[in-house]
Amino acid sequence: MKLRRWIATGAVAIATVGALNTLPASAGHPYNPADQSLRNLGLRHDLYIGTAVDMAALNDAADPRYRELVASQFSTVTAENVMKWESLEPTRGTYNWGPADELIAFAKQNNQRVRGHVLVWQNQLPGWLTTGVNDGSISTEQLREILRNHITNVVTHFKGKIWQWDVVNEAVSDPWDNPPALHYKGFWAQHLGPDYIADAFRWARAADPKALLFYNDYNIEAFGSGDPANDKTQFVYNMAKDLLAQRVPIDGVGSQGHLGTQYGNYDTLQVAAALKKFAGLGLATAFTEVDVRSQMTEAVQNGDSNEINPRLQASAANYSVLLQACLADRHCLSFTVWGFTDKYSWVPNWFGNEGLANIYDENYQPKRAYNLMKADLIYTGPPYVLPRIPQKPRR
Ligand code: XIL
Repeated sequence: MKLRRWIATGAVAIATVGALNTLPASAGHPYNPADQSLRNLGLRHDLYIGTAVDMAALNDAADPRYRELVASQFSTVTAENVMKWESLEPTRGTYNWGPADELIAFAKQNNQRVRGHVLVWQNQLPGWLTTGVNDGSISTEQLREILRNHITNVVTHFKGKIWQWDVVNEAVSDPWDNPPALHYKGFWAQHLGPDYIADAFRWARAADPKALLFYNDYNIEAFGSGDPANDKTQFVYNMAKDLLAQRVPIDGVGSQGHLGTQYGNYDTLQVAAALKKFAGLGLATAFTEVDVRSQMTEAVQNGDSNEINPRLQASAANYSVLLQACLADRHCLSFTVWGFTDKYSWVPNWFGNEGLANIYDENYQPKRAYNLMKADLIYTGPPYVLPRIPQKPRR
């Protein structure tokens, strides 16, 4: 049992660590009023503040600032790529654990928890797997067995070191897909049918009884996006409810939080309402991949402040919406950004002419988004501090 006593003035948390004592717990570090880092301010709420980590950047001796900031600002880390299947098993039967183990060691050294990302996803699969399925040399039965083995091997390898696993990622289609009616999409649903989802959670649980098992997806920040029949958040909610009814060991839903300032997005109350509905099922929640990108018009690229400022402000406001909603719901356990500096963002590579998505600029200057996150963590203070409710792994 975790025992917490809150002293209202100064919000000092006195915590003893129990249930998760195999994990480095930043709860073991008391809140330090002199430390204004995001991770320390998160301690006032028991909220873990995380980032995706790019291992090449972490190991770049010419860029020590990256490593320093990962260590000093964040209390949880996620591998941006090195725990994906193509990285872990590039050749069939030969696992490359090195980079992922390095991240785990880094996290331990810096008293950080680790989100495992990702066990089952249709992207970044190894070529041997997709080729084998396409040319018929891997049968459906063998594919199911390969998936079971993969989950078992990976979860067993990292057993006791992962706080939250993204067990299944991005399994649900979007209203703009074909057919437009929401459905289970991608490689795994096509080849194994949607039951692979329940199987994946059961296999993961069998290999690690203590990790929290998450379903993770984008565009599920709020209910009510357009046509109710095509509401992706509702679809994921129904899925989670069904899984629970079948006694599938799912512990949480991760909302990625990839937003763009060109879209309508949401306000805090809508997002908080969605978190609350998931919590109502008995699930934890987390923001797992937050970034808020903008279109890089010619004027933006030429440094025109008329176009840059509104983007930076809108980006900051959207970070704040998600963070405030998370702070307001005691089952929201962590808030992870998908990289913290524009220097290494996936956005320009992936979305073409978009950028400015992160909380530090390319030169590691904190942007308005960083300062607003910090303000949210500070001003959501006593007497309104809401300590998190720890989630117990479901059997
Ligand atoms: C992205 C990485 O950031 C890129 O470096 C990589 O090339 C592609 O994948 N949703 C997810 C993440 O769950 O794994 C993706 O990460 C971003 C979208």
